[in-house]
Amino acid sequence: MTKKLTVACLGLGGMGGGLADRLCELGWAPVVWNRSAGRAAVFAEVAARIASTPADAADGTDVALLSLADETAVEEVLFGPDGLAGALKPGAVVIDASTVTPSFSRNTTRRLAELGIDRVEANVIANPAQARSGDARVFAAGDPAAIERVRPVLVAMGRQLVELGGTGRAATMKLVLNSLLGVQLTALAEAVSYGVQAGLDRDLLLRTIAESAFSSPVMAYRCGVMREERYDRPTFRAELMEKDLRFAVADAASYGVALPVITTADQRYQAAVEDGRGGLDAAAILLQQLADGGVRNDGRA
Ligand SMILES: NC(=O)c1ccc[n+]([C@@H]2O[C@H](COP(=O)([O-])OP(=O)(O)OC[C@H]3O[C@@H](n4cnc5c(N)ncnc54)[C@H](OP(=O)(O)O)[C@@H]3O)[C@@H](O)[C@H]2O)c1
Repeated sequence: MTKKLTVACLGLGGMGGGLADRLCELGWAPVVWNRSAGRAAVFAEVAARIASTPADAADGTDVALLSLADETAVEEVLFGPDGLAGALKPGAVVIDASTVTPSFSRNTTRRLAELGIDRVEANVIANPAQARSGDARVFAAGDPAAIERVRPVLVAMGRQLVELGGTGRAATMKLVLNSLLGVQLTALAEAVSYGVQAGLDRDLLLRTIAESAFSSPVMAYRCGVMREERYDRPTFRAELMEKDLRFAVADAASYGVALPVITTADQRYQAAVEDGRGGLDAAAILLQQLADGGVRNDGRA
């Protein structure tokens, strides 16, 4: 009988918490760690143990699953004081579900390889509830042998596993898809503010958009968030939406591809973050639109 992989989950926010729940549900009993202790404490009954630091989480671990906000967080958790990288045993694999740039992803993979640790990109297309229920789609990229070693964990993470080839491709896939999300939500906010200012009933307008052929599942979901003004219970924070749009623009530029519409969507999300809306759901781009009329005080779009 092959030995079951021992797993540690680091980063238990919306998405990481959902994935950790999923693994617990399937009997993996992972070690868990989160920067702020409260999010780890809720796993006390179902996790193997709660680690005190990323290095502590590495103890005895075959596979470390990261779901962290951004590149700064990934850098700190892997290479910071009490970091994971220095403590994992050679041959361990990091599965990284955080959305980062393809260049950061390739660089991180190289740095870990120098320590004898493999890294697999596993970008997830899902919201936290879908991750929790096993309905995520997982896009994996990296060394095929490393993917093979952690395949049972990748399979457990969702309902579909798609392998894309070399490191960077899963990150690219994620940024391509989230670009569409960011543009749709920005356009939705503008269209709604236009209709409301012109005298249309806000609730009727949002319902009409959600039920129309011009909508999409994510747009219909955000129409519901806007109708109920549930911005303070984020499934995907505006700050993370901004990050992904900025990453897409920068990465596309490295191929000589300009993304003018996505760039404008990013500027609108930057305005939302600067005005204190980064912790709200990405649907709060409507609040930003209603507050500034789509134009920054300094004249920027
Ligand atoms: N939400 C989605 O629908 C979704 C879908 C697919 C992919 N993603 C991606 O998945 C990742 C996590 O997203 P999320 O929605 O779960 O975000 P989130 O709820 O904001 O959670 C972010 C996680 O990162 C941790 N973190 C932030 N900065 C850190 C640092 N400097 N050091 C250590 N830990 C740090 C947070 O710890 P604290 O609890 O201490 O703040 C938390 O565990 C992001 O890269 C996001 O783009 C999200």
